[in-house]
Amino acid sequence: MYKQLLQYLKPYKTRFFVSLFCMAVVSSLTGLIRYLLKPMIDKVFIARDIHSLYLIVFSIPLAYFLLGVFNYAKTYFMSSIAQRITLTIRTQTYEQLQRLSSGFYAKGTTGKIMSRLTNDIAALQFALNRAPATIVCDGLTVIVLTGILFYLNWKFALVSFIAFPFVSLPIINFSRRMRHLSREGQKQMAEIYTNLQESIMAINITKAFNQEKTEIERFKKINWDLYTLVMRFTKIEALSSPLMEFMGAFAVGLVLFFAGKDVISGAWSPGSFFAFFAAAFSIYQPIKNFSNLNPQIQQAISASERIFELLNQAPDIMEKTSAQEIAPLRESIKFDGIGFEYDKGIRVLKDVSFEVMSGEVVAIVGPSGSGKSTLVNLLLRFYDPSKGGIYIDGNDIRNVTLHSLRSQMSIVTQETILFNESIRYNIAYGNSSASEDEIVMAAKLAQAHNFIEKTPKGYNTLIGERGVLLSGGEKQRIAIARALIRNPKILLLDEATSNLDAESEQLVQQALEKLMEGRTTLMIAHRLATIKNADKIIVLENGSIVDAGTHEELFKKEGLYKRLHHLQLI
Ligand SMILES: Nc1ncnc2c1ncn2[C@@H]1O[C@H](COP(=O)(O)OP(=O)(O)OP(=O)(O)O)[C@@H](O)[C@H]1O
Ligand SMILES: [Mg+2]
Repeated sequence: MYKQLLQYLKPYKTRFFVSLFCMAVVSSLTGLIRYLLKPMIDKVFIARDIHSLYLIVFSIPLAYFLLGVFNYAKTYFMSSIAQRITLTIRTQTYEQLQRLSSGFYAKGTTGKIMSRLTNDIAALQFALNRAPATIVCDGLTVIVLTGILFYLNWKFALVSFIAFPFVSLPIINFSRRMRHLSREGQKQMAEIYTNLQESIMAINITKAFNQEKTEIERFKKINWDLYTLVMRFTKIEALSSPLMEFMGAFAVGLVLFFAGKDVISGAWSPGSFFAFFAAAFSIYQPIKNFSNLNPQIQQAISASERIFELLNQAPDIMEKTSAQEIAPLRESIKFDGIGFEYDKGIRVLKDVSFEVMSGEVVAIVGPSGSGKSTLVNLLLRFYDPSKGGIYIDGNDIRNVTLHSLRSQMSIVTQETILFNESIRYNIAYGNSSASEDEIVMAAKLAQAHNFIEKTPKGYNTLIGERGVLLSGGEKQRIAIARALIRNPKILLLDEATSNLDAESEQLVQQALEKLMEGRTTLMIAHRLATIKNADKIIVLENGSIVDAGTHEELFKKEGLYKRLHHLQLI
């Protein structure tokens, strides 16, 4: 993990060394300023030397001026490195999210993913910002001040450090517990995000079922669990500082006793005494900074474990390194002995084989849950089949680039997903190089142009989040326009007209039929009118093909097709 973090530091090596240099200067100056007390007292007060006074009076503002300049530079450079690294990590995490396959999203909850992108990265950023400065700058300050202490009187210096081992043992133990607690806390934070996201999505259901109180109770519980975790963390965090202070005070008292005696007896100069104690007290703050930083470092360690776990995860669906571009469909799409399971042991498709010839319209019918949408998911290569394969013109789709495979397809999904952008943006999503005319044309074909014109800003109207400002049928028509504008070779329609009323369905159907000419269409549909004219109908039940043929052929038999028709399911 540290190695991976160091990789991120590499591009900023120069900046990093510049800020290290600034830190070194800052620490040395801090030491020097403390040391000035010695000549101040010994030379000016005791020896009454006016020249030393001039020198000291001149040096102090100069030292503070330099201290300010280098402090500024150090903070600026260090922050910029920390910000750049988090910027990179955040972008990489997002890129990784775009790369990961559907299976990942089916398993992980949105909240968990969100908390990594926000909470965990924030924890890392905070530590990156503070840790190097504290470790290097305060570390150097401690070294310089320790040097001064030893230079002034090595025996007393040794005595001041007597408390050190007694303090470090509990601190090491504290660190382990804090790391554990912050891991738990971050998990709990993910729960909060998950809950939040879910309840926003489900707000209307919650209201309709009068479940507001239940939801609030559910949230309260998660929130309370987080509180208890944070408090356990805080107890340890709050204990570190007083413990160190007490040990420190003990050491100081001890030194004070011996040093005081030496000054009284004249064995040690008062100047050395004051400089020694100024340095000893100044060493205290940086050491305290260390212990204050520890909780944040522990949090960042567990946060980066989670971020890197996500970043280092290989997508289930990967292009082969030898993947070739696939040419547009010429002959056929062949599903060959497909077996598939989303979860191990639960077979969703069993030995499914059929062929769609180029230019054909093939309909898939079957009861809910029979695996129709799954077939489309496999063709788009959201998942790979566990048995058999899908071949386009004889090429296994696992051997071609994902981009070339998907670029010849266009899909209208069962659940309409639109982006919170303008209507124009949503239609052009299918083809970013589409002209204004093409956008309007696609909307007209999808029977969407009329209602778009009636919206306040026409094509510039913003679709609310999840398309809430549009009706189900309107959203679906925009989705159809988005599919059409792509001018795809292969059209995948999963209940593409299910949300439309009979009239607009007929209109959209006519448009689609016009469109299907010269294309290859795989369509999942529930209505007879839509399926009737298909070249071939595949009847799916429990993940297996139970029948196939044209409408006339299937209608003659007493099979599932006829039963579905009787039940008015088609
Ligand atoms: N992401 C998933 N993870 C696990 N199981 C899934 C997943 N998606 C679908 N399934 C299961 O796979 C089976 C087939 O689902 P599929 O969506 O293909 O059915 P369908 O024929 O399209 O049904 P419908 O007509 O209701 O849309 C169902 O039993 C479903 O529970
Ligand atoms: Mg489906």
